[in-house]
Amino acid sequence: MPLTLVVGGQFGDEGKGKVVSYLGLSDKPSICVRTGSINAGHTVTYNGRTWKVRIIPSCFVNQSTKLMIAPGALLKIDVFLREVEETNSRGRVWVDERTGVIEDAHVERERSDEYLMRTIGSTGQGVGAATMDRVMRRLRLARDFQELRGLITDVPLAVNEELDRGGLVVVEGTQGTFLSLYHGTYPYVTSRDTTAAGILSEVGVSPRRVDDIILVFKSYVTRVGAGELPGELSPEEVVARGWVERGTVTGRPRRAAPFNLDLARRAVMLNRPTQIAITKLDALFPGARGKRRWVDLPPEARRWVEELSEALKVPVTLIGTGEDSLDMVDMRREVMGP
Ligand code: IMP
Ligand code: MG
Repeated sequence: MPLTLVVGGQFGDEGKGKVVSYLGLSDKPSICVRTGSINAGHTVTYNGRTWKVRIIPSCFVNQSTKLMIAPGALLKIDVFLREVEETNSRGRVWVDERTGVIEDAHVERERSDEYLMRTIGSTGQGVGAATMDRVMRRLRLARDFQELRGLITDVPLAVNEELDRGGLVVVEGTQGTFLSLYHGTYPYVTSRDTTAAGILSEVGVSPRRVDDIILVFKSYVTRVGAGELPGELSPEEVVARGWVERGTVTGRPRRAAPFNLDLARRAVMLNRPTQIAITKLDALFPGARGKRRWVDLPPEARRWVEELSEALKVPVTLIGTGEDSLDMVDMRREVMGP
């Protein structure tokens, strides 16, 4: 599986960071590429420590993986450099010369936009404003900043050469299918296409190079910001079910709803995954907590996973059972063959 793409199947916050960090530790990819921008926070917990990364690829937990930021991604220099230190990734992190740069003016412009902030519920990180400038061809890119000299590489070339050598590359998608500018619940969406095809174009690899697409679902659905959420629960009910979460970037409480099979089917259609990862199975079945082998999962949890596989006609291969990157039931060998 030389090129593996990880994509969110709901409204973001499905646990892509956890899945990608697990892949980093288990598969030891040569390269992990981050797409999207700093509005998307990925939480990684490993060895008793938790990081909230907004631009560094979640594979950073594996010291041998080269970390790259896609040309289609947007970073903010202060956020990026802080995370380089926090994740101890200096020396193995690279930025494409074409990666876009968000400046303070973009953040200010976005935060003074009532429509974006109030009606849409933007995270206010300047991502939409910088994207506007990019489309209008006035955004400054990574190559224009002295602070990033020395960290610049040709990411599409590096990725394609690694694939030619038979190396493993993990591409880390951000946000979820239904936040897509094209395929989501417009106008309550983010400023980019979050589906598999959009993610690929941000990196600069052909669709023909993709071997595996892992679509990530959480065992229930959450959403921050405005927009429809079918089956949305009352805040009291969210507490009662133990599904309370806060936004990684904004700290806002996340709205929550039970798992939605219709949405999942549409996400499968739009992304055509080869595999599904399901996170937080322990939120539905507490007996699953911390389990790392299929046989150790409670029978009702196994049944739920099997029924989901059958309903979506895609194998569920990775099952998250706790916060730690390694709290994962990995069924890839059994299901997909060696
Ligand atoms: P913006 O992309 O920051 O302008 O936010 C637009 C909408 O997408 C808002 O509803 C945000 O809450 C949502 N959003 C953006 N990024 C993420 C994310 O990483 N996770 C969850 N929601 C997000
Ligand atoms: Mg998130």
